Amino acid sequence: MEELKRPTKRRGFYVKMRLLNKNGRQQDKNLCFKYYKWVLWFSLTLYFFSSYFINHKPIPLSKTRFTNSKSNHLSRALIESVNKTFLQHPTSNNRGSLRDLKIYVYALPSKYNTDWLSNQRCSNHLFAAEVAIHKALLNSDVRTFDPYEADFFFVPVYVSCNFSTVNGFPAIGHARSLISSAIKLVSSEYPFWNRSRGSDHVFVASHDYGACFHAMEERAVADGIPDFLKKSILLQTFGVKYKHPCQEVENVVIPPYIPPESVQRTLGKFPVTGRRDIWVFFRGKMEVHPKNISGRFYSKKVRTDIWRRYNGDRRFYLQRHRFAGYQSEIVRSVFCLCPLGWAPWSPRLVESVALGCVPVIIADGIRLPFSKAVNWPEISLTVAEKDVSKLGMILEHVAATNLTSIQKNLWDPSVRRALLLHDQDQEGDATWHVLRALSEKLDRSHSRSRVPLQSHVDT
Ligand SMILES: *[C@@H]1O[C@H](CO)[C@@H](O)[C@H](O)[C@H]1NC(C)=O
Ligand SMILES: *[C@@H]1O[C@H](CO)[C@@H](O)[C@H](O)[C@H]1NC(C)=O
Ligand SMILES: *[C@@H]1O[C@H](CO)[C@@H](O)[C@H](O)[C@H]1NC(C)=O
Ligand SMILES: *[C@@H]1O[C@H](CO)[C@@H](O)[C@H](O)[C@H]1NC(C)=O
Ligand SMILES: *[C@@H]1O[C@H](CO)[C@@H](O)[C@H](O)[C@H]1NC(C)=O
Repeated sequence: MEELKRPTKRRGFYVKMRLLNKNGRQQDKNLCFKYYKWVLWFSLTLYFFSSYFINHKPIPLSKTRFTNSKSNHLSRALIESVNKTFLQHPTSNNRGSLRDLKIYVYALPSKYNTDWLSNQRCSNHLFAAEVAIHKALLNSDVRTFDPYEADFFFVPVYVSCNFSTVNGFPAIGHARSLISSAIKLVSSEYPFWNRSRGSDHVFVASHDYGACFHAMEERAVADGIPDFLKKSILLQTFGVKYKHPCQEVENVVIPPYIPPESVQRTLGKFPVTGRRDIWVFFRGKMEVHPKNISGRFYSKKVRTDIWRRYNGDRRFYLQRHRFAGYQSEIVRSVFCLCPLGWAPWSPRLVESVALGCVPVIIADGIRLPFSKAVNWPEISLTVAEKDVSKLGMILEHVAATNLTSIQKNLWDPSVRRALLLHDQDQEGDATWHVLRALSEKLDRSHSRSRVPLQSHVDT
């Protein structure tokens, strides 16, 4: 339409100019001669000036797809407002997909959270999602300072940062008492816990068996999820596809925490598409003679089987000791083994994906993070625990058939982003996927159940 109209306008202007010229000649020639020159000069200037606008202005504007026939003479102010409209478009889409979610973050006394940050490890070890999600929410667009308009309430308690002086592992023995005390506090000082009995309150439980708060499955199951958390929403790394007492609660499976900066640093030195000279990689605890600890063996002996079968096989690079530079090994590997430990999940899942090494998941029944958003079958391989002795054959087969297509899917930057928790939430990152998952649970929100949905809310 606009292409048709533009020449018409130009011709109109040309005709007008000729009429002006004619009128000039019909009147007093002498008097109008000077006028004629000025009018001609003025008209020509105007003509070239406006045709400049017609030809040039629409170019930057057309990018915005908001141009119409009137845009030929748009003022700068209008151009700017059009630009703004365009730029806000993705933002409003983003908000739409989060269904205008609003989260209130309780300001708890620092003993519940930030005091623990005096130990630097608190914000970057594998359970640090409790810190990262808190930080991201404080900076997020979905945060509201008015608890009365909040859909959900985030209770920021860091329970994983009391590191054992014996082995350095997080001692989560105080988790129950610390969270219970935080709940006592918010339920006595605010009306929101009592009115919903906690069902619109959100906690992070990033440990082996989620809110069962114990690393050993037997003990975790025996202790169970504390009653005071059973009605709430838990963001947890633990998840299985079968019935399990440690996930009998409304939950979202989240990825374990890997500092995004460490991934960035490694990828700065070794690009994701670079040379991969290690065929199969694993580094970590791998007992040669596993101990029977209250009826269970670490990793259900899977890691031991891998070690026995493939140690010495030149295709397999298996290391049992810690090494700070292990990310540079992952980024040089084609396949990265992610066998279960005590719990099915492992930080290796995130590290492999983030560094472009095909994760080989060996943990029967594991429920993976954001399975709606991340197409796991396209970016990883799953091998049954009972089949570990056939790993070599299975991986050879994949290398000969569909490895390149798996790598192509895996190397898509959006996949990496989806599993990393940034302090400042970014569309499509792990925190954003958590928000997305929460926005699908708005039926639990006390404020939504009372106020009818506003008409501008997207469906
Ligand atoms: C559009 O707006 C952005 C910031 O809002 C500005 O940086 C950019 O220069 C503007 N573009 C145009 C074509 O005006
Ligand atoms: C930290 O853990 C130790 C046991 O490892 C325990 O004695 C101590 O009370 C815990 N600290 C807090 C503040 O809970
Ligand atoms: C919430 O309920 C608890 C236990 O019934 C009570 O002690 C507390 O005062 C209540 N909180 C508020 C804000 O009314
Ligand atoms: C492991 O230990 C438990 C007792 O704690 C025992 O009942 C079980 O038979 C042992 N299993 C093996 C394979 O030795
Ligand atoms: C690749 O091949 C393996 C083994 O044949 C199969 O299990 C897997 O689903 C395939 N993956 C993709 C993304 O094609």
